[in-house]
Amino acid sequence: MGVYTPERRLTNADLTRLVDTSDEWIRTRTGMIERRIAEPHEAASDMAAKAAERAIADAGITKEEIDLIIVATITPDHAFPSTACVLQAKLGLTDIPAFDISAACSGFVYMMQVANHMLRAGDYRNVLIVSSEKLTSIVDWEDRSTCVLFGDAAGAFVLSKCSEPYVGILGNILGADGSCGYLLKLPAGGSVMPASYETVVNSQHCLKMAGKEVFKVAVRTMSDCCRRLLEKCNISPDEVKCVIPHQANLRIIDAVARHLGIPLEKFCINLQNYGNTSSATIPNCMKEAYDQGRFKAGDLVLLTAFGGGFTWGATLIRWK
Ligand code: COA
Repeated sequence: MGVYTPERRLTNADLTRLVDTSDEWIRTRTGMIERRIAEPHEAASDMAAKAAERAIADAGITKEEIDLIIVATITPDHAFPSTACVLQAKLGLTDIPAFDISAACSGFVYMMQVANHMLRAGDYRNVLIVSSEKLTSIVDWEDRSTCVLFGDAAGAFVLSKCSEPYVGILGNILGADGSCGYLLKLPAGGSVMPASYETVVNSQHCLKMAGKEVFKVAVRTMSDCCRRLLEKCNISPDEVKCVIPHQANLRIIDAVARHLGIPLEKFCINLQNYGNTSSATIPNCMKEAYDQGRFKAGDLVLLTAFGGGFTWGATLIRWK
């Protein structure tokens, strides 16, 4: 596992100088205290490369042993080429396949499922999966209902083929509901609304969200897919050592914990320091939890995410 978070911090106090908000509102409604901000010259692929290099070193392999790169991001360097291709070049690799997936904040659990199946069914041995999000590049700094929530980060894992049974990824459930896509979106810049003077003036290249509606569906879908995944794997909630949830809001995590009947203490939380970094929250939080000794070999770790699309998913891992 490897993580990269930019140095620069944006605190709740800083945000009170930008919009009509308060430290008290942000803390009590979201749990957030500060987030990290990438430098203007720092692209998603730059953050991805730093996280990837750390993950490859942590895996104890050489970068030449990577045989597939997948990147999840909603802030790609460009519409095309893919950020995975840009990353491949930045890592100094050639020939191996590289592609992006688009599943917003659920990107990491989606990638895990894709990589898992490619490792099990295909010729791949070491798959590099990277989430890299420069959300501050699509935030509307005049919209207090969204600008307080997001930050920048990248997280990478190397997933390797393993012949031992009952370790690694034990199961994975994904879901989506495209009819709700309009509740969390970036309206302009695609073929529906190409960039124009009007789209720029009207901030339509910025993220828009109906927070209240998103909140309810996030709680329901994450709880539901975790419950179904545990049933499918024949694991009781008590057996789970820790849960790594998407870090969108402390109140969402609290509600998911109550719905699942898993104590909040088992949920790893670092949104107070980083805010919501979309698909990068899970690898960032999981690496931190591992470094803190919250799980070790043999433990069951449950990941769950929800995001734009809507998309959602859960992954159950027995750590090796
Ligand atoms: N500071 C102060 N007041 C704010 C504010 C801010 N930053 N943002 C919104 N408000 C105000 C609203 O204007 C509203 O005022 P009103 O009652 O006078 O109209 C009031 O606070 C309540 O707003 P509401 O949107 O109902 O708050 P909420 O309790 O739903 O919290 C979110 C807002 C965004 C924190 C919450 O809905 C949320 O976390 N949603 C899901 C976010 C998420 O998961 N996103 C990503 C999915 S991956």
